[in-house]
Amino acid sequence: MTADVIVSGSLRNRLAFILTGGAALLAVILYVAVRLLAAQVAQQGQDNILNASMSSVLDTALIRDGRVTVDFPYSSLSMLNTAADDRVFYAIYEGENLLSGYDWLILPRDVLSERTHFGTTTFRGDPLRVATGSRVLIGSDGPRTVSVSIAQTQDALSDTLYSSSRSVAFLGLGFFLMSSALALWAASTTSGQMRRLATSVTRRGPQDLSPVTKPVPSEMAPLVGSLNTFMSRLDHTLSQSEDFIAEAAHRIRTPLATVRSHAEATLQRVDRTENRKSLQAMVRAIDESSRAAGQLLDHAMVTFRAENLEVSEVDLADLLDELVLSMTPVAEMKDITITMTLDRPATLQGDAILLQNALRNLIDNALKYAPAETDVIVRVSKSPSLSVSISDGGQGFAVDEIETLPGRFVRGKNMGNKVGSGLGLTIAQEVAIAHGGKMTLSNRKEGGACVTLSF
Ligand SMILES: Nc1ncnc2c1ncn2[C@@H]1O[C@H](COP(=O)(O)OP(=O)(O)O)[C@@H](O)[C@H]1O
Ligand SMILES: [Mg+2]
Repeated sequence: MTADVIVSGSLRNRLAFILTGGAALLAVILYVAVRLLAAQVAQQGQDNILNASMSSVLDTALIRDGRVTVDFPYSSLSMLNTAADDRVFYAIYEGENLLSGYDWLILPRDVLSERTHFGTTTFRGDPLRVATGSRVLIGSDGPRTVSVSIAQTQDALSDTLYSSSRSVAFLGLGFFLMSSALALWAASTTSGQMRRLATSVTRRGPQDLSPVTKPVPSEMAPLVGSLNTFMSRLDHTLSQSEDFIAEAAHRIRTPLATVRSHAEATLQRVDRTENRKSLQAMVRAIDESSRAAGQLLDHAMVTFRAENLEVSEVDLADLLDELVLSMTPVAEMKDITITMTLDRPATLQGDAILLQNALRNLIDNALKYAPAETDVIVRVSKSPSLSVSISDGGQGFAVDEIETLPGRFVRGKNMGNKVGSGLGLTIAQEVAIAHGGKMTLSNRKEGGACVTLSF
């Protein structure tokens, strides 16, 4: 029996999704932050060298014969060598006048302080980093300002940045993969707790309504608490209804049996035909209602027990031996011979009381609907699967009724004046289904009905 449950997503997937999503976001943040930092550090390195180079040139500035001269020490250029052969540009100004170098390398306006000014410009589309510094020389005709700009392309810098970005990207990816693995592990251990609870509840037998005693995480405690309460209530209700059915059966059958024996005793003493007739009608009505009551209760019992099968190893052959023995007196009244063909042992895991009830109803039908002096055949066979069939030599089922006869309270047109309630086949079919089997109604070639329960 599977209950219909509306499933909305999975906690494990949701948890795993949130955690891996978080890990991905963190990896991206890590990547961006480390890259920015690396860019800053690399830029700082280039700036330091540009500054040193620019200062070493500026240091050589002096006034000779009334003219400003500047030298390029070898070291000032050699220190700018890079693996990527970056190009270097320079410009030297006195005040606003270009003394030497590239005139497009224009002095920034605010360079007149002591501090080096760093800026970025482009040369034919390539980015250039420029360091500019200035110095005031005191000549005979007053102070003169000398400014030096050294610019360098950034190929080496971007190479370094590119390779460090790649390393950081790998680092981020590694971080992401590791945290994803951790996230999946965390998500499945968390949902594992719930799965374990679910399996421990589903694995127990249908009769086991004992409370769940396994320790559970605090978040699941309310659920398990209500489950336990619910099961103990169900347990109580079930045992109450079982008692009620047994009690009801007893309370209805006993007085009916008493009334019947009184009626029969009276019948012995009464001579007048019309009195005998009405007493006979009474006995019949009592039989009918006692049978109907019995079957109603049997049906209630079957419905109840089908949900709570009391399973044990049952040998159908033994069960039928006993059953047929107890029904032989009824058969003898109609001169019916019950023949048994049993493939022993015919064991199955089932509820003996229910199986007996089902088979009694089928044999009872055969004895009831078959005419006197015929044979009833009870057959148990094990191939292709375990099955019991009860066949008789009566008129069989009406073909157009075969589908509907197992319904509740349905009786066939051949019922005549036979006592019955229309529940026998219903009970037999429900028992077969509760045991994972089925009931099939058919008519024999040689005439007569055949009901098969196969498991
Ligand atoms: N062995 C049989 N031979 C012919 N008809 C049968 C046989 N068993 C059952 N039936 C038909 O199926 C109907 C339903 O059977 P059942 O559920 O046992 O109810 P009941 O026996 O109380 O009538 C019967 O009324 C009868 O018409
Ligand atoms: Mg019947």
